[in-house]
Amino acid sequence: MASNEKEKVVIVGSGWAGYTLAYGLDHRKYDMTVISPENSFAVTPLLASAACGLFDCRLAHEPIRRKDLHAKYMKAYVTDIDFKNQIVFCRPAFEQLKNERLEVPYDKVIIAPGCTTNTFGVPGVEKHAIFVKNVADANIVRSRLNDNLEMASLPCTPEAKQRQLLHVVIVGGGPTGIEMAAELTDLFDGDLGALYPDLKGKTSVAVHDVAPQILSPFDRRLQEYATQTLRSHKVEIKVNSHITNVTADTIETREDGVIGYGILIWATGNKARPLVEDLKTLKSDHGLKRILTNDNLQVLAPDGTVIPNAYALGDAADIEGGSLPTTAEVAVQKADYLVKHLNSGTFTRPFKYQQRALVTYTGRRDGVIGGKHDYTGYGAWLSWRSGNFFWTRSWRRRILMCFAWLMDWIDGREIIRN
Ligand SMILES: Cc1cc2nc3c(=O)[nH]c(=O)nc-3n(C[C@H](O)[C@H](O)[C@H](O)COP(=O)(O)OP(=O)(O)OC[C@H]3O[C@@H](n4cnc5c(N)ncnc54)[C@H](O)[C@@H]3O)c2cc1C
Ligand SMILES: *[C@@H]1O[C@H](CO)[C@@H](O)[C@H](O)[C@H]1NC(C)=O
Repeated sequence: MASNEKEKVVIVGSGWAGYTLAYGLDHRKYDMTVISPENSFAVTPLLASAACGLFDCRLAHEPIRRKDLHAKYMKAYVTDIDFKNQIVFCRPAFEQLKNERLEVPYDKVIIAPGCTTNTFGVPGVEKHAIFVKNVADANIVRSRLNDNLEMASLPCTPEAKQRQLLHVVIVGGGPTGIEMAAELTDLFDGDLGALYPDLKGKTSVAVHDVAPQILSPFDRRLQEYATQTLRSHKVEIKVNSHITNVTADTIETREDGVIGYGILIWATGNKARPLVEDLKTLKSDHGLKRILTNDNLQVLAPDGTVIPNAYALGDAADIEGGSLPTTAEVAVQKADYLVKHLNSGTFTRPFKYQQRALVTYTGRRDGVIGGKHDYTGYGAWLSWRSGNFFWTRSWRRRILMCFAWLMDWIDGREIIRN
């Protein structure tokens, strides 16, 4: 087939869903364009470790522009889609070009812009908290940790200030928040004692959540196990905690008043992106607002009919009548499904999700796994580490990561080496 006969596929978003599609769709059949403000794909399960210096942050993402990925790329936000005339509208993701508009016609559009973090309208969060959504965020955590450690170890810093600088507050007791807490305790209890002897015992980590328990996707027994484990590592678990105000160095909670912090990490639930709010499609009406599709992942119009040549998946979408979690697992399984069916040109089977185990690391080579067979402890840690390995699809990165773990084991974390 000549190249000008190829069908034009526009992929909105370069996350788990968009990247998997761009990689998997047949470039001899489709002329693909990925439109996303980010020109790399963040391997989200690796971000917590990267942020705490277990390995180089660069290992936790994969560039979109690479030789074996045959998609074109445009650094822009999609702002609207005209489903009737099959045009995607976008705005360049550059401040100096923010008034420019781009129109990209398509034969098929695949919508996967993910979600943003919900700040629940708490004042100051946007400005002062760090979200752990991509590699840039992980780098911010890392450099803040570095700065705060150095600042705390200066002779002019009084002890109360040292303790505040080294107090990390994590808001959100979901898997992301808990893994951050776990990685931080590993870092604080492990290598730092030897390198900053004067800061020993002055570091602390607290996890705040509005819910009465942490790790809501897991069952009760595992929640309690994780809570006990983290508490034994001296992580303060503050459930039923309502944050009302955030400043550059304090949070205010309804229960405990003003609390000082050195680093604030915000890892609460998901919120719909403006694009998802604005698109004229059928949407879920309870909880997180998501674009609804049929079980072939075709987008549904507000009246429930199929919109031709439009597909949606990932955190931004859900199948009508079902309710799948916002996880990479689901995003990847849906992307694999679309790849298979778009490459062959037929949709014979509906999409069916295969439940896999849920894994969360709780620190010091321990963790919890929910799902098929619930278990905890060292086995869970191994499975989490090998799970990390599984998430990493490129061989180059797998080798680099093994090397990083080895160096970590021999010589301490990278964070203190750079
Ligand atoms: C720290 C962390 C750890 C996690 N760990 C796990 C785990 O262990 N296991 C698991 O299953 N899940 C995990 N998740 C969840 C998982 O990352 C998400 O479910 C997954 O990223 C969803 O994929 P997605 O492609 O829908 O969205 P994303 O991966 O969020 O990608 C969305 C993409 O769309 C782009 N975009 C945004 N707005 C626009 C726009 N207007 N136009 C164009 N592009 C746009 C974004 O820049 C991004 O590239 C984790 C998430 C986080 C944050
Ligand atoms: C938040 O705290 C700051 C600093 O104490 C204060 O100026 C501001 O009024 C507070 N905002 C709210 C909504 O409480």
